[in-house]
Amino acid sequence: MASPAGDAVASRSAGGAVVPRHVAIIMDGNGRWAKKRLLPRIAGHRQGAEALRKTLRAAGEMGIEALTLYAFSSENWRRPVTEIADLMGLLRHYLRREIDEIHANGIRLHVIGDYRRLDSDIVALIDEARARTAGNSGMHFVIALNYGAQDEIVRAARALAEEARSGTLDPASIDASAIEARLDTHCLPPLDLLIRTSGEARLSNFLLWQAAYAELLFVDTLWPDFDGAALAKAVAAFGARERRYGGL
Ligand code: IPE
Ligand code: IPE
Ligand code: MG
Repeated sequence: MASPAGDAVASRSAGGAVVPRHVAIIMDGNGRWAKKRLLPRIAGHRQGAEALRKTLRAAGEMGIEALTLYAFSSENWRRPVTEIADLMGLLRHYLRREIDEIHANGIRLHVIGDYRRLDSDIVALIDEARARTAGNSGMHFVIALNYGAQDEIVRAARALAEEARSGTLDPASIDASAIEARLDTHCLPPLDLLIRTSGEARLSNFLLWQAAYAELLFVDTLWPDFDGAALAKAVAAFGARERRYGGL
């Protein structure tokens, strides 16, 4: 990811509206959506997968270059094993069912986070989907799985330390771009807009480095109710913000 102050000019669509290049969403509120309807939590996660489909389609139509969605955090292992199994089952189902369409739409699938710790069949599905869509030239669709921003930064620090120890890197040359080059998001445009649904106003260990100059938007909508119209509203709110990057 390029440095925020450098290459961070959000693109403009043909109509003149400002379109963020890279949008990230903390998809929160599935459990509360289900609870309100006296349904099991899995029903909220299922409806959340529908919201994801709608949002992905709308992001492509709006000309957003990269959409990053927080699907499972490195802290979500603290949930009951039954809920983790339900979430992994849904992920499996999603990867099996949706990759053909994702590929047909020219989308490039990426995963950020330490996803190799997931079940081996899921790792295989992810690797297959990444390889299959790598040559596409459309939108970047990024799923954060077993992702924690602190873990991502720790892994980048470890990579730098190993390069320094082996003599291929001079510690004095380490700067922000050296760190960015070793983050999971290194091939993506700078983060412009970070949305969290469900009324919570915290980052829950998501994209801490990348959010340095992103616009933050907290909306009350529960994730299963999110859709293209909700995304359009968020993008319009982004367009009305003034970004200063420390200047005047
Ligand atoms: C977000 O919804 C989905 C994941 C974290 C996987 P939650 O499951 O956190 O829903 P709430 O916050 O309990 O409503
Ligand atoms: C953040 O939501 C993680 C995802 C959306 C995947 P959580 O529901 O896990 O966050 P906390 O626990 O409320 O901070
Ligand atoms: Mg939650």
